[in-house]
Amino acid sequence: MAVVTIPGARFTPTPDESRAWCAQLEAGDILFFPQTPVPLAPGDISFLLGQQQADSSLHKNIAYKPNIDRLSGFDTKTADPAAVERLHRIMRDYSNSVVRFLAHFLAPYQEHWKLDYASFRPQEEQGRDLPLRRRNDLLHTDAFPTRPTHGARILRFFNNIHPGRTRDWVVSDPFAATVRQFAPQEIAPHPGSALSRIGKATARAIGLGAAIPSLKRSPYDDFMMRFHNFLKENPRFQAGCPKYPFQFPPGSSWMVYTDTVPHAVLAGQYALEQTFLVRPEAMVRPEISPLRVLEEIAHARLA
Ligand code: SIN
Ligand code: FE
Repeated sequence: MAVVTIPGARFTPTPDESRAWCAQLEAGDILFFPQTPVPLAPGDISFLLGQQQADSSLHKNIAYKPNIDRLSGFDTKTADPAAVERLHRIMRDYSNSVVRFLAHFLAPYQEHWKLDYASFRPQEEQGRDLPLRRRNDLLHTDAFPTRPTHGARILRFFNNIHPGRTRDWVVSDPFAATVRQFAPQEIAPHPGSALSRIGKATARAIGLGAAIPSLKRSPYDDFMMRFHNFLKENPRFQAGCPKYPFQFPPGSSWMVYTDTVPHAVLAGQYALEQTFLVRPEAMVRPEISPLRVLEEIAHARLA
């Protein structure tokens, strides 16, 4: 894996260059922009640096849902309505700017992504006290417990808006290498199960039948969730895997397929992030996608 540095002069690629950026992301590279292509107004940054988050154990971050234009993750009882309104506006603008930039920069994906949540991450990452499966300082690949992707891939775009400190990541070798080396039999994909155990249990717990579409996870989603947990819970992987540290400076951006590249954040504070779910048909190198890699291992369709 590599960190590929992209200077401002290359922010508007030709169609061939765009395809090449997609291919590099799909192979597990991080695209790194020393100067962010989506700068925020200085006044908005100062405002974000002044925000405190209500209950970090309930919500890891402040989330913005672009499709319904909703903000969540703050304390509605104590928050100042004017501040909430401003935060909402900043998140909406940020999300729009990232979409506008990537619609051109990653042109082959544009028709094929589903815009997922954006987030504001105001907490210090070093020493955060979170339950093991929610810890982000342990290397993991991303999977969403409540938002199955059915084979679509998780692409994330970040901004470090801290005025003086880097955001410190460690990454490891991409999915294909890691899954073959570490996934034991018990977490291998189960092509037969249309609904995961967690999906069924959740459906039962809230008194609903199993046929609720939003709870339906494909065998692919089921595996990706278990693999996320398996990596965080596996001391042999955490201690022994190859580790590549990288420190993202203030004012920079980066993007990466976080379902492919095991990653951990060790320190840093104040980041913005926008997630995209990119559908399998948009891949310029489908053969190395986690879906295909797993289908090859399982000898079955998984999504
Ligand atoms: C993560 O996706 O694990 C966290 C990344 C970050 O907040 O820098
Ligand atoms: Fe993650």
